[in-house]
Amino acid sequence: MNRVFSGIQPTGNLHLGNYLGAIRNWVAMQAEYECIYCIVDLHAITMPHDPAGLAQATRDMAAGILAAGVDPARTILFHQSAVTAHAELAWTLMSIARTGWLDRMIQFKEKRGRDAEGPSVGLYTYPVLQAADILAYRATHVPVGEDQKQHLELARDIAVRFNGLYGEGLLTPPLPVIGAEAARIMSLRDGTAKMSKSDPSEASRIDLTDTADAIAAKVKRAKSDADVLPDSAAGLADRPEAKNLVGIYAALAGTSVDAVLAEWGGRGFGAFKPALAEVTVAALAPINAEYVRLRADPGHLDAVLRGGAARAGAIAAPLLREVYNAVGFLR
Ligand code: AMP
Ligand code: TRP
Repeated sequence: MNRVFSGIQPTGNLHLGNYLGAIRNWVAMQAEYECIYCIVDLHAITMPHDPAGLAQATRDMAAGILAAGVDPARTILFHQSAVTAHAELAWTLMSIARTGWLDRMIQFKEKRGRDAEGPSVGLYTYPVLQAADILAYRATHVPVGEDQKQHLELARDIAVRFNGLYGEGLLTPPLPVIGAEAARIMSLRDGTAKMSKSDPSEASRIDLTDTADAIAAKVKRAKSDADVLPDSAAGLADRPEAKNLVGIYAALAGTSVDAVLAEWGGRGFGAFKPALAEVTVAALAPINAEYVRLRADPGHLDAVLRGGAARAGAIAAPLLREVYNAVGFLR
């Protein structure tokens, strides 16, 4: 049986990069798979965080995911801290994973910072918790961005080693699913930097909370260049801003970069930007409206997450029992 699991940190607002790079794929996978999606609040505390804002950020992320089209009647959506099996399985798997494996993790090296006391132990063991997230559900497929490939390999290594020690077939080594068009959305102010929630410039990203006017203004002010658009994708090679804007257009219009350029080649950004703004507003307006509606009803969001946690817990609990038996704990 195929089962999808994926996770996202409760960063509050979703931006266009999160949507095209991750959440849109989550929505699409519901058609073919049983899906379990998790807002990973246990992961969120591995870096300094604001305790007063975490619960609201978790709700906001739930609202964004639902507004984008995840259907809680079909799909399980929940927050990680509500299912204790994640932490319990993670602890067990800490004794399976080797420090040599974690020492190689690129994301840890990027995030570790320069604090004299070093990063938190949680940040170091973050990929083991991520492995537990996936393995607790015997998920077969994990949609993630390119940057998570290494964590998925670690989850596979942990599953294989666990099975070798305690019994074949206990844990299922998962496969990553990396979006085919490799949607990597760049900043509207700098075509060489990723669109990111941490960019201090609001104009660098389009948030799912932006109004139609705000979207149009940001697209109009987006950095571009003075040349006309080329006839094919090859002509975008040394034009990061042009490449990004055409890529966004193609992704939102559900077409290819070459198809966009077949239509727009030879024309400049003065003509292209209003069209891009229109496509962007058309794609995001329904999501934005639903997001605003859902956010106004925290009781409903909490109920969806609680319901999802109950269903998730019912899948993870028997797996955890098998794992505890396999390692020999007194039951
Ligand atoms: P983050 O907000 O960086 O934790 O990312 C959450 C999810 O959105 C991950 O699956 C990322 O791969 C994806 N994501 C974030 N920023 C971008 C971007 N600029 N382009 C494409 N995907 C992104
Ligand atoms: N580490 C992932 C990210 O930063 C989030 C995540 C946590 C995740 N647990 C997961 C993704 C399990 C896939 C499966 O994007």
